[in-house]
Amino acid sequence: MKITWLGHSAFLIEDEKKVLVDPFITGNDMAPVKPDDVDCDIIAVTHGHGDHLGDAVFISKRKDVPVVAIYEVAEYVSSKGAKAVGMNFSGTYEHEGVRLTMVPALHSSGITESGFSVDGGLPAGFIIEMNGKKVYHAGDTGLFGDMKLIGEIYRPDVALLPIGGLFTMDTHLATIAARLIKPKYVIPMHYNTWPPITAKPDEMREDLKREGIELVVLNPGQSFEF
Ligand code: NI
Ligand code: MN
Repeated sequence: MKITWLGHSAFLIEDEKKVLVDPFITGNDMAPVKPDDVDCDIIAVTHGHGDHLGDAVFISKRKDVPVVAIYEVAEYVSSKGAKAVGMNFSGTYEHEGVRLTMVPALHSSGITESGFSVDGGLPAGFIIEMNGKKVYHAGDTGLFGDMKLIGEIYRPDVALLPIGGLFTMDTHLATIAARLIKPKYVIPMHYNTWPPITAKPDEMREDLKREGIELVVLNPGQSFEF
């Protein structure tokens, strides 16, 4: 499985199929791709905020691929004329060998429409499974105790965790989250996009190492294969 960071919380996760998560590309100076040339078979969106929903509608229409999201975000995507699959917590959506299981996140999910926030349901994370390998994309989230349960039930190989603080966990809390989840690898996300979410991911390395977890810090456009 190959995981490519597209900056912020956007990832392309590839095995037999390509799963694009939280495709915030337009307006993200870190993004190494353009909405016009990114390839994918399915799009997963964790919540309604613009830095996650991003270019999902445009890419979905361009590639004729579905956007999988919490029911209310899926309804919104569908109202914009794109293909959408609505789901909810603990549910699994299976598509051409890709399994997407929705897990909770501790955050908010409003969708900004003409300057107002419309209902975007609840924020989520995804367990993304292909060929027996599993990645946990935590979405935007604060620390919560049920991350332990997510780790025990799904046993993800890799956890993609937000570390930028202010809107999500910082490096200290993400280290505690990793201790609860117990993945083999942690890839930090949602940091250094803008000054308020500046973080130093390497601060986590030694503490994670003591737990037997490897920190993998990517630059935008860089991939990790396992
Ligand atoms: Ni958010
Ligand atoms: Mn965000």
